[in-house]
Amino acid sequence: MQRSSIAFFWITAFLSVVFVAIQFVRPELDNPPVTADLQAPPQVKQILRTSCYNCHSNETRLSWFDEPVPAYWMVARDVREAREHLNFSKIGKLPAGQQRAALFESVSQIELGAMPLPAYKRVHPESEITPEQLAVLKKYLSLATPSEATGAPEASAADLQYEKWMQTGSSTPEVAAAPNGIAFMPDYKNWRAISSTERFDNHTMREILGNDVAVKAIAENHINPWPDGTSFAKVAWYQQPDDKGVVRTGAFFQVEFMVRDSKKYAGTLGWGWARWRGADLQPYGKDKNFTSECVGCHNPLRNTNYVFTEPIRGQQ
Ligand code: HEC
Ligand code: HEC
Repeated sequence: MQRSSIAFFWITAFLSVVFVAIQFVRPELDNPPVTADLQAPPQVKQILRTSCYNCHSNETRLSWFDEPVPAYWMVARDVREAREHLNFSKIGKLPAGQQRAALFESVSQIELGAMPLPAYKRVHPESEITPEQLAVLKKYLSLATPSEATGAPEASAADLQYEKWMQTGSSTPEVAAAPNGIAFMPDYKNWRAISSTERFDNHTMREILGNDVAVKAIAENHINPWPDGTSFAKVAWYQQPDDKGVVRTGAFFQVEFMVRDSKKYAGTLGWGWARWRGADLQPYGKDKNFTSECVGCHNPLRNTNYVFTEPIRGQQ
C-alpha cells in the first residue's frame, strides 16, 4: 500500500518535471508588423477579428490555455499554416476585387462549417460565427465596394462594370446558347465561391463558383465522381494595373461552365461544356466541336473527375 503511494508520488513528480521541461520547447510564434490590413467596414472587421484573426493575421492573441505545451504546439502550427493561406494583415494591398474574392471564400468556408477550425471552435466558443454575423458578411459582399481613388478612368469604368456584375442578380438580357445547345445560366452569380485563383500568364483573375448540388456534394464529400446536376462556373476578369502600378480587377473577360450529366454528356467526359466571352456574352466556338478544346485540357484530371479546382475542405 505504502509502496504504491510512493511509486505514485515519483511518477507524478517525474511527469511534472517533464511537463515543466517541455514548456521550454516552444517554436517561435511572433506577430510580424501589420503591413496592409484588410479594407472593410468596422462591423465586418470586428467579426473577422473575433473569429479569424487569431490564426489569419499578424495579430495573434493566445488565451492562457493555449500557452502550455502541447496545446501551444498545435496552435503555433495552425497559425503558421493559416497565415500562409490567408493573412488579413497583408491582404489590404491587393486590389479590391481580390480582397472581395478572399471574403467570398471566407464566407463559403464559414457556411460549410470548415472555419473557424472545428477543434478551435470547441475551446473558443466565442469564435463561432452566428447567423446574424454571417448575414452581415454576406450583406457587405452584396453591396458595392467603395471605389478607391484612381486616376485612370478605365480603372473606374472597370470597377463599375465589376460592381454592376456583382449586383445585377440573375437578370441578364437574351444571351444566345452555346453551339452545343447549352443555354446560358445567369443564375451562376448566386452560386457559392469555391475558390479563386489568379493567373499571371494571361493577366486574368478568376473565381470558381459551384451550384447547390456542388456545395452539397462538397459538404458530404461526394465529389468523385461529382453527382449529376453539379455545375461549375469559372468567371474571369482582366487584371489591370492602375496609375500607381497596383493591379486591379479589370473588365469582364469570360464565364465558362461545366455541367455534370454522366449520360447526356457521356461523349465529353460526362460534363457539358460552355463558354461566353466579353461583356456582351458572345457564345464561344464555331460549332459544337469546340468542346474538344475543353476536353483536351481537362482530360488528364481523371482522378478528380476532370475538375481542376480542389474544393475547399468540407465539414469534418
Ligand atoms: C485555429 C486557427 C484558425 C482559425 C481561428 C481560422 N482558421 Fe481559417 N484556416 C486555418 C488553417 C490551418 C488553414 C489552412 C488550410 C486547412 O487547414 O484546410 C485555414 C484555411 C482557411 C481558408 C482557405 C484559404 C486558402 O485559400 O487556402 C480560408 C478562406 C479560411 N481559413 C477562412 C477563415 C475564416 C473566415 C475564419 C474565421 C471565421 C477562419 N478561417 C478561422 C486555421 C484557422
Ligand atoms: C489550356 C487548358 C484549359 C482549357 C483549354 C480549358 N480549361 Fe477549364 N480549366 C483549366 C484550369 C487550369 C482550370 C482551373 C482553374 C484555373 O486555374 O483557372 C479550369 C477550370 C475550369 C472550370 C472550373 C471547374 C474546374 O475544373 O476547376 C470550368 C467550369 C472550366 N474550366 C470550363 C472550361 C470550358 C467550358 C472549356 C472549353 C471552352 C475549358 N474549361 C477549357 C484549364 C483549361
